[in-house]
Amino acid sequence: MEYEVFFVTLPIETMYRYFTVMIKKIEELKNEISALQAATPEAVEQLRIKYLSKKGEISSLMNDFRSVPAEQKRELGQKLNELKNIATEKLAFLKESLSANADAEKASIDLTRTATPLPLGTRHPLSLVKNEIISIFGNMGFTIAEGPEIEDDWHVFSSLNFPADHPARDMQDTFFIQRDGKDDILLRTHTSSVQTRTMEHSQPPIRIVCPGRVYRNEAISARAHCFFHQVEGLYIDKNVSFADLKQVLLEFAQQMFGPETKIRLRPSYFPFTEPSAEMDISCGICGGKGCAMCKGTGWVEILGCGMVDPNVLKSCGIDPEIYSGYAFGMGVERIANLKYLVKDLRLFSENDVRFLDEFVAAH
Ligand code: DAH
Repeated sequence: MEYEVFFVTLPIETMYRYFTVMIKKIEELKNEISALQAATPEAVEQLRIKYLSKKGEISSLMNDFRSVPAEQKRELGQKLNELKNIATEKLAFLKESLSANADAEKASIDLTRTATPLPLGTRHPLSLVKNEIISIFGNMGFTIAEGPEIEDDWHVFSSLNFPADHPARDMQDTFFIQRDGKDDILLRTHTSSVQTRTMEHSQPPIRIVCPGRVYRNEAISARAHCFFHQVEGLYIDKNVSFADLKQVLLEFAQQMFGPETKIRLRPSYFPFTEPSAEMDISCGICGGKGCAMCKGTGWVEILGCGMVDPNVLKSCGIDPEIYSGYAFGMGVERIANLKYLVKDLRLFSENDVRFLDEFVAAH
C-alpha cells in the first residue's frame, strides 16, 4: 500500500530507482537465507513465519512487485521466484536435518547395553561398625546424642567424679589446650563427656548412645593411636538395675558377634560408675578354646560399664534418690578389630584404598 501511493505520485526515475532497491534487497535476503541455522523445530517455524508467511518478507516483496514498471517485471519476477524457491528449500532442509539428528540420537542410545560401572567409594570400616553399633542400640530404644571434641575439664573429668590426682588429668595422657594462660580446655579423652552434657539439659528417662572421636596423648603404634572412636551408652530412669545393663549388653554382643556369643562381666573401677565392670565376650576366633587373639583365655575384652555413680547424677542435676542408671563405653576400633581381624590400628587412619576397598564385600 505504502509503495503504491509512492509510485503513483512519484516521477518515473524514482520508480526505476526502486527496481534497483528491490534487486539489492533480494540479493541480501538470498545471502541471509542461505546462511540460516536452526536448533529446534520451533526455530524453523519462526523462520518460516519471518520469510514465507503471508506477512513475511518475501510476500511483502511480492506485493511491491505489482508496482514496478512493466518492462522490469520479467527480470524482477524471475529473481523473486528464485528467492522464494531458495527459502522454501532451505527451510525444508533445516526441518529434515533436525529430525534426522533426532533419529540418530535415539539410535545411539542402546538401552540394553551393560552399564559401565562407575568407581564408587566405600564406607570406612569404622563408620560401618559404628553404624552397626548404633543401629543395634537404636532398635532397643536408644537415641543418638553428640557433643564437642574440644571440651572443658568439667564435662570430661570433674562432673564424672574424677579425683583431682587422677592420672587421666595428667598432661601425659590428655591433650590440653592453652587459653589465656589456663589449661581447662582439652581434647576429650572419652565420650562419657556427652553423658554429662545430656543429663545437664534433660531429665530422665534418658536413653542415649553417644558416638564420637576421642584423643589421648599416646605414641602411635600398631596397638595405639592418638585418636580413636568410642560409643558411649547411658540409660537413666526409675528402678534401672545392673540386670538391665547385663541383658542389654548380652543382646548387643549376640547381634554384633553372633548368637553363640557369651559374655562375662569382671569387677573393675571407673570413677563415674559404682559398681563398675569390664565385659568380655567369648573369643569368636577359637570359639572359646583359646588362641592367639584371646591369648589362650577364650575371652576378649570389649567394653567398660557400670551403674552411674550417684555423685555423677547429682553433679548433673538429677536426683539419685529417685533415679538410677547404667552406662557403658566401647572402642569402635576394638570392635572392628574383633570383627575384621585388623591387626594394625594405623590402617584405619591411613586411607589406603586397597585396605578400604576390602570392606565393600563385607557389607
Ligand atoms: N570412658 C571409659 C573409657 O574411655 C569407658 C567407659 C567405661 C564408659 C565405663 C562408661 C563406663 O560409660 O560405664 O575408657
